[in-house]
Amino acid sequence: MSESFKLNTGAYIPSVGLGTWQSAKGEVTAAVAFALAHGYNHIDAAWCYGNEDEVGEGIRQSGRKREELFLTSKVWGTYHTKIEENLNETLRSLGTDYVDLYLVHWPIALNPNGNHPVIPKTDSGARDLYLQQTIEETWKGMEALLKMGKVKAIGVCNCSPSYLERILKVATVVPAVNQIELHPYLPQHSVVKYCQDKGITVQAFSPLGSAGSPILQDPEIIAIAEKHNASVGQILISYQVARGVVVLPKSVTPKRIEENIKVVDLPKEDVEALGKIAASGKTQRFVKPDWGVDLGFEDW
Ligand SMILES: NC(=O)c1ccc[n+]([C@@H]2O[C@H](COP(=O)([O-])OP(=O)(O)OC[C@H]3O[C@@H](n4cnc5c(N)ncnc54)[C@H](OP(=O)(O)O)[C@@H]3O)[C@@H](O)[C@H]2O)c1
Repeated sequence: MSESFKLNTGAYIPSVGLGTWQSAKGEVTAAVAFALAHGYNHIDAAWCYGNEDEVGEGIRQSGRKREELFLTSKVWGTYHTKIEENLNETLRSLGTDYVDLYLVHWPIALNPNGNHPVIPKTDSGARDLYLQQTIEETWKGMEALLKMGKVKAIGVCNCSPSYLERILKVATVVPAVNQIELHPYLPQHSVVKYCQDKGITVQAFSPLGSAGSPILQDPEIIAIAEKHNASVGQILISYQVARGVVVLPKSVTPKRIEENIKVVDLPKEDVEALGKIAASGKTQRFVKPDWGVDLGFEDW
């Protein structure tokens, strides 16, 4: 089934985790309970997905012991100045007194007193940013959580090397993880290498290209899947594991949930071929919110 990778904290993280973004409230409880009964020990959640109560219910229904599970959640931008408050809501929803990994969801703070609790907007309709709260300050806030025992490891999402450099300049604790969009249309080789060189474990979000993905129809990837008698989804997931990346496929469909945890051992030539597809003119980023600031990614 799925192996584990070692974080820079010394803890192990299962290489495949169930994603929960856009999992409808009526479906996610069953998906989580099913996954935890079918080989998954790892769930990727976030406060801003608005479904952590239902994720928590799925964990309870699974009957699994807390210590067998690896649970991740993320602080949202409107809470960068009050991270513990956001974490406490998550812990209540998930029904646990700690998460194994807590991430900064995006490196940009949003106005904590704006016109909306999740995505506050300015009069012009742009995201209402709170730039006086820097990523350096937010990281210090994350480090403070470690002493409280409510998080076992801390990390970030959506950080380019330029943001990671800023964090590393002030960090007492090196981020354990950087969770970024990764799939054959966006392999981000240089970002992955930068993180791995610094001991930061990389996680792949939207590994299938997110909902309605064109990647699933890619002839080159279909050919590799046929060769291995596997599904395209399994190849996309196995590609990340082969490059030492933790992968977070989302599904609410039992058959796919079962399929996605069965990692195929891909030979070097297939891993290399999958890593070259984007460079043939297919580069595409699917999760691209308009932050109105440069996040430092080459393709953005
Ligand atoms: N940190 C961040 O900023 C961030 C951003 C995006 C995502 N994430 C995390 O990463 C997770 C995964 O990303 P994602 O949800 O964007 O997309 P994804 O996992 O790439 O794709 C999910 C889509 O693929 C379908 N699917 C799942 N398994 C399949 C298979 N074997 N064959 C064909 N289709 C399949 C799902 O449908 P069904 O559900 O209907 O089966 C769903 O429509 C998220 O759920 C979230 O936990 C994090």
